[in-house]
Amino acid sequence: MGNEMRIVTKDSKDKYIFTDVLEIEGQETTILDITCLDAIRKIVADNDVTAIINCAAWTNVDGAEDPEKYALVEKLNATAPENLAIAMKEVNGLLVHISTDYVFGGDPYNTPCKEDQKGTPTGVYGLTKLHGEQNIQKTGVDYLIFRTAWLYSEFGKNFVKTMMNLTANKPQLKVVFDQVGTPTYAYDLAATIYDIIENRKYTGNTGVYHYSNEGVTSWYDFTKMIAEIAGNKSCDIQPCHSDEFPSPVKRPAYSVLDKTKVKEVFEMAVPYWTDSLKICMNNLMKE
Ligand SMILES: NC(=O)c1ccc[n+]([C@@H]2O[C@H](COP(=O)([O-])OP(=O)(O)OC[C@H]3O[C@@H](n4cnc5c(N)ncnc54)[C@H](OP(=O)(O)O)[C@@H]3O)[C@@H](O)[C@H]2O)c1
Repeated sequence: MGNEMRIVTKDSKDKYIFTDVLEIEGQETTILDITCLDAIRKIVADNDVTAIINCAAWTNVDGAEDPEKYALVEKLNATAPENLAIAMKEVNGLLVHISTDYVFGGDPYNTPCKEDQKGTPTGVYGLTKLHGEQNIQKTGVDYLIFRTAWLYSEFGKNFVKTMMNLTANKPQLKVVFDQVGTPTYAYDLAATIYDIIENRKYTGNTGVYHYSNEGVTSWYDFTKMIAEIAGNKSCDIQPCHSDEFPSPVKRPAYSVLDKTKVKEVFEMAVPYWTDSLKICMNNLMKE
């Protein structure tokens, strides 16, 4: 997500500073550990920062279930966003924060989730991300929280890249069809955030928003589409149930996000998931 923000902001009239907890080879990055409030305050003061877009998080959903990791996951997903919110509140700035569909899932439902639906996370990742949202809201800062889902991009390790590789190299593959949601091309979310910030559309419109691509699919159908676009015809892809892949955390069976609010408030269209998938995969296949 952070890498896509770098791309979409490159021609901005605003000045962006990109931070990470570690040095990234070949990229200009300012080192910042967002679990340290004083370090955030210093960067904000030194650079006159008026808005923060937080793309950092603990994102390993299964790894978050390790009881020994709980304190660290909570620190990164709940305390760090609170730190960023405090730092922005102190300068009357804006915090843009990315959250997740995994704040839902505990209650059974089969219609798309709205922003005001009660959070019912099924695991530590979703729970700590929900705490992060609540901590931001408690500070009284101006905030935009975007709950997104099934993020992929040209960068890092993600489902699209994994399945492009597996469907090219394996004769058979089983993929769960009983978890339904919507993929999100991180570029589309980054471009949305950029448009809102660049054109100051957040004024009077702060709050929680849902953003994924349009449409609904299962991980199985997502994989079939990835194989089709990649031209990987030799892999036999079969649907299976989630219990065939035991996991330490129960994932939401239906995690479709309702995007009516973001579309109406910011008067924008959201790309259909297969259209965006083709764009991302064409970029990957050019590499
Ligand atoms: N991926 C998904 O499917 C998905 C779905 C819904 C919502 N989201 C949310 O979307 C956001 C972006 O996700 P992503 O997939 O782009 O995540 P990602 O690739 O895992 O990136 C997270 C970044 O946070 C950095 N980070 C870790 N600890 C830090 C610290 N103490 N201070 C500063 N930075 C730190 C990581 O650095 P290192 O790599 O050096 O550790 C990494 O660059 C997250 O809020 C996530 O919860 C993701």
